[in-house]
Amino acid sequence: MDWGEEAARRLTKIAETASLPGPGVTRLPFTEEHRVAIGIITGWMEAAGLAVQMDAAGTLVGRREGPAGSKTLLIGSHQDSVPGGGAYDGIMGVALGCLALEAVKDRPLNVAVEVLAFADEEGVRFPTALMGPRVLAGTFDDGTLAMQDRDGVTLRDALAGFGGEPDALAQMKRRAEEIAGYLELHIEQGPVLEREDAALGLVTGICGIERLELRFTGSTGHAGTVPMEGRQDALVAAAGFVAEVPGMAREWDGLRATVGMLKVSPGAPNAIPDAVSLVLEVRSERDAERGAAVAEMGKRAAEIAERAGCGFEMAQTYQQPAVLCDPALSDVLARAGQGDLPTLPSGATHDASAMADLCPIAMLFVRCRDGVSHRPDEFASAADMGAAVDVLARALIAFDPA
Ligand code: GLV
Ligand code: MN
Ligand code: MN
Repeated sequence: MDWGEEAARRLTKIAETASLPGPGVTRLPFTEEHRVAIGIITGWMEAAGLAVQMDAAGTLVGRREGPAGSKTLLIGSHQDSVPGGGAYDGIMGVALGCLALEAVKDRPLNVAVEVLAFADEEGVRFPTALMGPRVLAGTFDDGTLAMQDRDGVTLRDALAGFGGEPDALAQMKRRAEEIAGYLELHIEQGPVLEREDAALGLVTGICGIERLELRFTGSTGHAGTVPMEGRQDALVAAAGFVAEVPGMAREWDGLRATVGMLKVSPGAPNAIPDAVSLVLEVRSERDAERGAAVAEMGKRAAEIAERAGCGFEMAQTYQQPAVLCDPALSDVLARAGQGDLPTLPSGATHDASAMADLCPIAMLFVRCRDGVSHRPDEFASAADMGAAVDVLARALIAFDPA
Protein backbone atom coordinates (compact mmCIF):
# COMPACT_ATOMS: atom_id res chain seq x y z
CA MET A 1 0.00 0.00 0.00
CA ASP A 2 1.17 3.56 -0.73
CA TRP A 3 0.50 5.03 2.72
CA GLY A 4 0.78 8.63 1.55
CA GLU A 5 -1.75 8.18 -1.25
CA GLU A 6 -4.06 6.35 1.14
CA ALA A 7 -3.75 9.21 3.66
CA ALA A 8 -4.64 11.72 0.93
CA ARG A 9 -7.63 9.62 -0.12
CA ARG A 10 -8.91 9.25 3.44
CA LEU A 11 -8.43 12.93 4.29
CA THR A 12 -10.22 14.06 1.13
CA LYS A 13 -13.12 11.77 1.92
CA ILE A 14 -13.54 12.83 5.54
CA ALA A 15 -13.20 16.52 4.53
CA GLU A 16 -16.16 16.10 2.18
CA THR A 17 -18.37 15.16 5.15
CA ALA A 18 -17.72 18.54 6.81
CA SER A 19 -17.59 20.89 3.85
CA LEU A 20 -20.79 22.80 4.52
CA PRO A 21 -21.40 25.72 4.82
CA GLY A 22 -18.02 25.90 3.02
CA PRO A 23 -15.54 26.82 1.77
CA GLY A 24 -13.17 24.52 3.62
CA VAL A 25 -13.78 22.15 6.51
CA THR A 26 -15.97 23.04 9.48
CA ARG A 27 -16.06 20.27 12.06
CA LEU A 28 -16.85 21.51 15.55
CA PRO A 29 -16.95 19.21 18.58
CA PHE A 30 -20.10 17.28 19.49
CA THR A 31 -21.91 18.07 16.24
CA GLU A 32 -23.34 15.94 13.46
CA GLU A 33 -20.07 16.36 11.50
CA HIS A 34 -18.16 15.07 14.53
CA ARG A 35 -20.47 12.06 14.74
CA VAL A 36 -19.89 11.27 11.06
CA ALA A 37 -16.13 11.63 11.63
CA ILE A 38 -16.29 9.18 14.54
CA GLY A 39 -17.82 6.61 12.18
CA ILE A 40 -15.10 7.12 9.56
CA ILE A 41 -12.20 7.14 12.04
CA THR A 42 -13.59 3.95 13.62
CA GLY A 43 -13.12 2.36 10.17
CA TRP A 44 -9.49 3.61 10.00
CA MET A 45 -8.80 2.21 13.45
CA GLU A 46 -10.41 -1.13 12.72
CA ALA A 47 -8.38 -1.45 9.51
CA ALA A 48 -5.29 -1.17 11.73
CA GLY A 49 -6.61 -3.96 13.96
CA LEU A 50 -7.40 -1.65 16.88
CA ALA A 51 -10.22 -2.16 19.40
CA VAL A 52 -12.28 1.04 19.31
CA GLN A 53 -14.34 2.89 21.89
CA MET A 54 -15.26 6.48 22.71
CA ASP A 55 -14.21 7.66 26.16
CA ALA A 56 -16.25 9.82 28.54
CA ALA A 57 -14.73 13.04 27.12
CA GLY A 58 -15.72 12.17 23.54
CA THR A 59 -12.21 11.07 22.52
CA LEU A 60 -12.24 8.14 20.11
CA VAL A 61 -9.67 5.61 21.29
CA GLY A 62 -8.27 2.71 19.23
CA ARG A 63 -6.12 0.27 21.21
CA ARG A 64 -3.66 -2.42 20.28
CA GLU A 65 -2.61 -4.58 23.24
CA GLY A 66 1.08 -5.10 24.00
CA PRO A 67 3.10 -7.79 25.71
CA ALA A 68 1.90 -8.63 29.25
CA GLY A 69 2.69 -5.83 31.68
CA SER A 70 3.87 -3.46 28.95
CA LYS A 71 3.34 0.28 29.05
CA THR A 72 1.08 2.11 26.61
CA LEU A 73 2.36 4.50 23.96
CA LEU A 74 -0.23 7.12 23.00
CA ILE A 75 -0.47 8.62 19.50
CA GLY A 76 -3.02 11.35 18.88
CA SER A 77 -4.32 14.59 17.54
CA HIS A 78 -7.69 16.30 17.13
CA GLN A 79 -10.66 15.67 14.88
CA ASP A 80 -12.08 19.22 15.05
CA SER A 81 -11.31 22.14 12.76
CA VAL A 82 -11.71 25.89 12.86
CA PRO A 83 -14.69 27.21 10.84
CA GLY A 84 -13.69 27.22 7.17
CA GLY A 85 -10.45 25.43 8.00
CA GLY A 86 -8.34 22.93 6.11
CA ALA A 87 -8.43 19.17 5.65
CA TYR A 88 -5.16 18.43 7.51
CA ASP A 89 -4.92 20.37 10.80
CA GLY A 90 -5.48 17.77 13.51
CA ILE A 91 -7.24 15.05 11.56
CA MET A 92 -4.07 14.29 9.56
CA GLY A 93 -2.30 13.19 12.75
CA VAL A 94 -5.15 10.79 13.52
CA ALA A 95 -5.11 9.40 9.97
CA LEU A 96 -1.32 8.95 9.89
CA GLY A 97 -1.31 7.32 13.33
CA CYS A 98 -3.86 4.77 12.13
CA LEU A 99 -1.93 4.12 8.92
CA ALA A 100 1.37 3.61 10.78
CA LEU A 101 -0.34 1.04 12.99
CA GLU A 102 -1.84 -0.60 9.91
CA ALA A 103 1.68 -0.74 8.43
CA VAL A 104 3.02 -2.58 11.51
CA LYS A 105 -0.11 -4.67 12.08
CA ASP A 106 1.78 -7.96 11.75
CA ARG A 107 4.96 -6.84 13.51
CA PRO A 108 5.60 -7.39 17.23
CA LEU A 109 5.84 -4.21 19.34
CA ASN A 110 7.23 -3.72 22.86
CA VAL A 111 4.29 -1.61 23.99
CA ALA A 112 0.54 -1.39 23.81
CA VAL A 113 -0.47 1.50 21.55
CA GLU A 114 -3.53 3.74 21.55
CA VAL A 115 -4.53 6.16 18.81
CA LEU A 116 -6.55 9.06 20.21
CA ALA A 117 -8.84 11.30 18.16
CA PHE A 118 -9.54 14.18 20.53
CA ALA A 119 -12.86 16.03 20.26
CA ASP A 120 -11.85 19.65 20.78
CA GLU A 121 -8.46 21.22 20.36
CA GLU A 122 -9.35 24.43 18.57
CA GLY A 123 -11.51 25.90 21.32
CA VAL A 124 -13.89 27.40 18.76
CA ARG A 125 -17.30 26.18 19.91
CA PHE A 126 -16.72 26.68 23.65
CA PRO A 127 -14.35 29.25 25.18
CA THR A 128 -12.06 26.45 26.34
CA ALA A 129 -10.07 23.72 24.63
CA LEU A 130 -8.08 20.52 25.14
CA MET A 131 -10.69 18.79 27.31
CA GLY A 132 -9.72 15.30 26.05
CA PRO A 133 -6.01 15.45 26.88
CA ARG A 134 -6.60 17.44 30.07
CA VAL A 135 -8.94 14.78 31.37
CA LEU A 136 -6.27 12.12 30.74
CA ALA A 137 -3.63 14.26 32.44
CA GLY A 138 -5.89 15.04 35.41
CA THR A 139 -5.74 18.80 34.79
CA PHE A 140 -9.31 19.34 33.57
CA ASP A 141 -11.29 21.87 35.58
CA ASP A 142 -14.87 20.61 36.00
CA GLY A 143 -16.04 24.24 36.16
CA THR A 144 -15.54 24.52 32.40
CA LEU A 145 -18.49 22.16 31.86
CA ALA A 146 -20.75 25.15 32.56
CA MET A 147 -19.29 27.13 29.64
CA GLN A 148 -21.77 27.82 26.84
CA ASP A 149 -21.53 27.96 23.08
CA ARG A 150 -23.07 30.87 21.17
CA ASP A 151 -26.48 29.13 21.25
CA GLY A 152 -26.40 28.80 25.03
CA VAL A 153 -25.69 25.03 25.02
CA THR A 154 -23.37 24.09 27.88
CA LEU A 155 -20.32 21.93 27.35
CA ARG A 156 -21.89 19.49 29.83
CA ASP A 157 -25.06 19.12 27.74
CA ALA A 158 -23.20 18.96 24.43
CA LEU A 159 -20.93 16.20 25.73
CA ALA A 160 -23.77 14.24 27.34
CA GLY A 161 -25.87 14.56 24.16
CA PHE A 162 -22.97 13.10 22.20
CA GLY A 163 -22.75 10.03 24.41
CA GLY A 164 -20.00 11.32 26.73
CA GLU A 165 -20.17 11.25 30.51
CA PRO A 166 -19.50 14.63 32.10
CA ASP A 167 -19.66 13.22 35.61
CA ALA A 168 -17.04 10.56 34.86
CA LEU A 169 -14.31 12.98 33.72
CA ALA A 170 -12.76 13.36 37.16
CA GLN A 171 -12.00 9.62 37.29
CA MET A 172 -10.33 9.43 33.88
CA LYS A 173 -6.81 10.50 34.84
CA ARG A 174 -4.35 7.95 33.43
CA ARG A 175 -1.65 6.45 35.67
CA ALA A 176 1.59 8.09 34.51
CA GLU A 177 3.60 4.96 35.33
CA GLU A 178 1.59 3.00 32.74
CA ILE A 179 2.14 5.50 29.92
CA ALA A 180 5.33 5.36 27.85
CA GLY A 181 4.77 8.70 26.12
CA TYR A 182 2.65 10.65 23.66
CA LEU A 183 3.50 11.18 19.99
CA GLU A 184 1.69 13.62 17.73
CA LEU A 185 2.05 14.07 13.98
CA HIS A 186 0.75 17.42 12.73
CA ILE A 187 0.89 19.68 9.70
CA GLU A 188 3.47 22.40 10.40
CA GLN A 189 1.06 25.31 9.81
CA GLY A 190 4.04 27.57 9.00
CA PRO A 191 6.70 28.05 6.31
CA VAL A 192 9.88 26.71 7.95
CA LEU A 193 10.08 23.18 6.52
CA GLU A 194 9.16 24.34 3.03
CA ARG A 195 11.94 26.93 3.17
CA GLU A 196 14.37 24.27 4.37
CA ASP A 197 13.22 21.90 1.62
CA ALA A 198 12.43 19.25 4.25
CA ALA A 199 9.35 17.02 4.24
CA LEU A 200 9.42 16.48 8.00
CA GLY A 201 10.69 18.22 11.12
CA LEU A 202 11.07 17.46 14.81
CA VAL A 203 9.35 19.83 17.20
CA THR A 204 11.46 21.17 20.07
CA GLY A 205 8.60 22.65 22.09
CA ILE A 206 5.18 24.30 22.01
CA CYS A 207 4.69 27.98 22.77
CA GLY A 208 2.91 29.27 25.86
CA ILE A 209 -0.32 31.20 25.34
CA GLU A 210 -2.16 33.84 27.32
CA ARG A 211 -5.50 35.45 26.52
CA LEU A 212 -6.69 38.64 28.14
CA GLU A 213 -9.94 40.52 27.98
CA LEU A 214 -9.35 44.27 27.85
CA ARG A 215 -12.29 46.57 28.46
CA PHE A 216 -12.25 50.25 27.56
CA THR A 217 -15.18 52.31 28.87
CA GLY A 218 -16.30 55.80 27.88
CA SER A 219 -19.55 57.63 27.44
CA THR A 220 -22.12 57.19 24.71
CA GLY A 221 -24.15 59.91 23.06
CA HIS A 222 -25.59 61.07 19.75
CA ALA A 223 -22.98 60.84 16.98
CA GLY A 224 -24.38 63.93 15.32
CA THR A 225 -24.83 66.27 18.26
CA VAL A 226 -22.02 65.63 20.76
CA PRO A 227 -19.09 67.89 19.77
CA MET A 228 -15.75 66.23 18.99
CA GLU A 229 -14.05 68.02 21.89
CA GLY A 230 -14.33 66.18 25.18
CA ARG A 231 -15.80 62.93 23.83
CA GLN A 232 -14.99 59.75 25.76
CA ASP A 233 -15.04 57.36 22.83
CA ALA A 234 -14.11 53.86 24.02
CA LEU A 235 -13.37 52.67 20.48
CA VAL A 236 -10.92 55.50 19.86
CA ALA A 237 -9.04 54.38 22.98
CA ALA A 238 -9.20 50.69 22.03
CA ALA A 239 -8.11 51.40 18.46
CA GLY A 240 -5.12 53.37 19.76
CA PHE A 241 -4.09 50.34 21.74
CA VAL A 242 -4.67 47.84 18.90
CA ALA A 243 -2.53 49.94 16.57
CA GLU A 244 0.34 49.79 19.07
CA VAL A 245 0.21 46.00 19.61
CA PRO A 246 2.48 44.96 16.69
CA GLY A 247 5.18 47.45 17.70
CA MET A 248 5.00 46.42 21.35
CA ALA A 249 5.21 42.72 20.43
CA ARG A 250 8.41 43.36 18.49
CA GLU A 251 10.08 44.58 21.68
CA TRP A 252 10.39 40.90 22.74
CA ASP A 253 12.30 38.49 20.54
CA GLY A 254 9.89 36.21 18.65
CA LEU A 255 6.82 37.18 20.70
CA ARG A 256 3.48 37.18 18.86
CA ALA A 257 0.53 39.33 19.98
CA THR A 258 -2.83 39.50 18.25
CA VAL A 259 -6.17 41.19 18.80
CA GLY A 260 -8.61 38.91 16.98
CA MET A 261 -11.90 39.76 18.68
CA LEU A 262 -13.54 43.07 19.37
CA LYS A 263 -16.99 43.86 20.74
CA VAL A 264 -18.29 47.43 20.43
CA SER A 265 -21.18 48.74 22.48
CA PRO A 266 -23.80 49.99 21.84
CA GLY A 267 -22.72 49.11 18.28
CA ALA A 268 -24.74 51.62 16.27
CA PRO A 269 -23.45 53.86 13.47
CA ASN A 270 -24.96 56.93 15.10
CA ALA A 271 -23.95 56.31 18.74
CA ILE A 272 -20.57 57.06 20.28
CA PRO A 273 -19.10 53.77 21.59
CA ASP A 274 -19.20 53.65 25.38
CA ALA A 275 -17.60 50.22 25.84
CA VAL A 276 -15.20 48.07 23.87
CA SER A 277 -14.09 44.60 24.94
CA LEU A 278 -11.27 42.99 23.04
CA VAL A 279 -9.29 39.80 23.34
CA LEU A 280 -5.53 40.12 23.29
CA GLU A 281 -3.68 36.84 22.70
CA VAL A 282 0.06 36.66 23.40
CA ARG A 283 2.33 33.71 22.52
CA SER A 284 5.97 33.02 23.29
CA GLU A 285 8.29 30.07 23.78
CA ARG A 286 9.46 31.84 26.99
CA ASP A 287 6.83 32.22 29.72
CA ALA A 288 8.74 34.90 31.67
CA GLU A 289 8.98 37.12 28.57
CA ARG A 290 5.30 36.55 27.82
CA GLY A 291 4.46 37.66 31.38
CA ALA A 292 6.64 40.77 31.08
CA ALA A 293 5.11 41.66 27.70
CA VAL A 294 1.56 41.29 29.01
CA ALA A 295 2.32 43.49 32.02
CA GLU A 296 3.81 46.18 29.78
CA MET A 297 0.92 46.00 27.29
CA GLY A 298 -1.56 46.38 30.16
CA LYS A 299 0.32 49.43 31.44
CA ARG A 300 0.34 51.07 28.02
CA ALA A 301 -3.33 50.27 27.45
CA ALA A 302 -4.16 52.02 30.73
CA GLU A 303 -2.16 55.09 29.64
CA ILE A 304 -3.89 55.18 26.25
CA ALA A 305 -7.30 54.88 27.93
CA GLU A 306 -6.46 57.73 30.33
CA ARG A 307 -5.37 60.01 27.48
CA ALA A 308 -8.73 59.31 25.77
CA GLY A 309 -10.62 60.07 29.00
CA CYS A 310 -11.74 56.44 29.27
CA GLY A 311 -11.76 53.76 31.94
CA PHE A 312 -9.79 50.55 31.55
CA GLU A 313 -9.76 47.02 33.00
CA MET A 314 -7.84 43.91 32.02
CA ALA A 315 -8.41 40.30 33.10
CA GLN A 316 -6.68 37.09 32.08
CA THR A 317 -9.17 34.57 30.64
CA TYR A 318 -6.80 31.76 29.62
CA GLN A 319 -3.20 30.71 29.92
CA GLN A 320 -1.11 27.67 29.12
CA PRO A 321 2.61 27.44 29.77
CA ALA A 322 5.20 26.72 27.13
CA VAL A 323 6.23 23.06 27.10
CA LEU A 324 9.32 21.30 25.81
CA CYS A 325 9.29 18.07 23.87
CA ASP A 326 11.11 15.21 25.58
CA PRO A 327 14.63 14.71 24.15
CA ALA A 328 14.63 10.90 24.58
CA LEU A 329 11.21 10.39 22.96
CA SER A 330 12.09 12.90 20.22
CA ASP A 331 15.23 10.87 19.61
CA VAL A 332 13.09 7.82 18.84
CA LEU A 333 11.50 9.83 16.02
CA ALA A 334 14.87 11.29 14.96
CA ARG A 335 16.41 7.83 14.62
CA ALA A 336 13.38 6.59 12.73
CA GLY A 337 13.79 9.65 10.48
CA GLN A 338 17.30 8.38 9.83
CA GLY A 339 18.95 11.32 11.47
CA ASP A 340 18.24 14.10 9.03
CA LEU A 341 15.17 15.81 10.49
CA PRO A 342 15.43 19.58 11.05
CA THR A 343 14.17 20.89 14.38
CA LEU A 344 11.74 23.76 14.95
CA PRO A 345 9.51 25.18 17.70
CA SER A 346 5.72 25.22 17.37
CA GLY A 347 3.91 28.56 17.41
CA ALA A 348 0.57 26.77 17.20
CA THR A 349 -0.68 24.84 20.17
CA HIS A 350 -1.48 21.15 20.11
CA ASP A 351 -3.06 18.39 22.18
CA ALA A 352 0.53 17.47 23.08
CA SER A 353 0.81 20.64 25.18
CA ALA A 354 -1.78 19.26 27.62
CA MET A 355 -0.46 15.68 27.40
CA ALA A 356 2.89 17.02 28.65
CA ASP A 357 1.32 17.12 32.13
CA LEU A 358 0.92 13.33 31.96
CA CYS A 359 3.95 11.97 30.13
CA PRO A 360 6.90 12.73 27.85
CA ILE A 361 5.77 14.14 24.50
CA ALA A 362 7.33 14.31 21.05
CA MET A 363 5.99 15.77 17.80
CA LEU A 364 6.71 15.33 14.13
CA PHE A 365 5.72 18.12 11.75
CA VAL A 366 4.80 17.53 8.12
CA ARG A 367 5.64 20.24 5.57
CA CYS A 368 2.75 22.52 4.69
CA ARG A 369 2.30 24.19 1.28
CA ASP A 370 2.99 27.95 1.36
CA GLY A 371 2.92 27.81 5.17
CA VAL A 372 -0.86 28.29 5.25
CA SER A 373 -3.22 26.73 7.78
CA HIS A 374 -6.66 27.46 9.29
CA ARG A 375 -7.64 28.07 5.66
CA PRO A 376 -9.41 25.94 3.04
CA ASP A 377 -6.23 25.78 0.89
CA GLU A 378 -4.14 24.17 3.65
CA PHE A 379 -2.25 21.26 2.03
CA ALA A 380 0.29 18.53 2.75
CA SER A 381 1.40 16.27 -0.10
CA ALA A 382 0.81 12.53 -0.26
CA ALA A 383 4.58 12.00 -0.54
CA ASP A 384 5.28 13.97 2.66
CA MET A 385 2.49 12.20 4.54
CA GLY A 386 3.84 8.87 3.33
CA ALA A 387 7.28 9.81 4.67
CA ALA A 388 5.69 10.62 8.04
CA VAL A 389 3.91 7.25 8.17
CA ASP A 390 7.24 5.52 7.42
CA VAL A 391 8.97 7.39 10.27
CA LEU A 392 6.19 6.61 12.74
CA ALA A 393 6.05 2.95 11.71
CA ARG A 394 9.84 2.59 12.13
CA ALA A 395 9.63 4.40 15.49
CA LEU A 396 6.88 2.02 16.66
CA ILE A 397 8.95 -1.04 15.76
CA ALA A 398 12.09 0.33 17.44
CA PHE A 399 10.42 1.79 20.54
CA ASP A 400 11.23 0.00 23.78
CA PRO A 401 10.56 1.92 27.00
CA ALA A 402 12.19 -0.78 29.14
C1 GLV B 1 -4.64 26.13 17.48
O1 GLV B 1 -4.48 25.85 16.32
C2 GLV B 1 -3.92 27.22 18.09
O2 GLV B 1 -2.68 27.27 17.98
O3 GLV B 1 -4.58 28.10 18.66
MN1 MN C 1 -4.13 21.40 15.18
MN1 MN D 1 -5.76 24.48 14.44
